[in-house]
Amino acid sequence: MRIIGISGSQRQASTNTALLVALSEFFPVGVQYRLYDGIGKLPIFNPDMEGEQMPEPVKMFAHQIERADGLIVASPEYVHGIPGGLKNALDWLVSRPEIVHKPILLLHASHRGDLALGALSDVMATLSSRFSTDPILRVPLIGRSPEQVRSLTTSGEYKKRLVATLNSFLVDIVSS
Ligand SMILES: Cc1cc2nc3c(=O)[nH]c(=O)nc-3n(C[C@H](O)[C@H](O)[C@H](O)COP(=O)(O)O)c2cc1C
Repeated sequence: MRIIGISGSQRQASTNTALLVALSEFFPVGVQYRLYDGIGKLPIFNPDMEGEQMPEPVKMFAHQIERADGLIVASPEYVHGIPGGLKNALDWLVSRPEIVHKPILLLHASHRGDLALGALSDVMATLSSRFSTDPILRVPLIGRSPEQVRSLTTSGEYKKRLVATLNSFLVDIVSS
């Protein structure tokens, strides 16, 4: 099984990226998990460039989505919305087949950012028949360093919640 993580933050010390990285410790053997870190290299979405003219980085992105059995997305809120880079990446997928039935799990490394989370849920529900808002896992990690994120999420209550959420996501993929 292949799972791809996508962070909506380009920051080096992003809490959302760190949360996705910390998650890598909890995958069972046999699951290949990797982060897609190319959203910053995708050109701005232009419907005129879909099909034959599709830019190479977009083709590679779509190919990775195609090969994945599920996506895990974690994103901050910027100016009451989804960060432009992430929304741009998702826009490239909208008229393509790769994401239509792809299971998607949303994580959120903050107790704030409800507007972005709501908007992202709407977008995911539009893109994929297999997205569910139950669960969206929120972990209040705003302002933490990647090291702090790792230590907070790999023990105690947060670890328990992450493992339970991940396992039910994986079971759902296998059983459908
Ligand atoms: C340009 C900018 C705009 C932001 N706008 C919001 C906002 O509208 N609402 C909010 O709750 N947080 C906002 N934030 C805070 C980020 O969502 C928050 O710091 C988040 O934890 C960053 O995620 P990251 O650590 O993964 O980069 C903003 C941050 C930046 C840099």
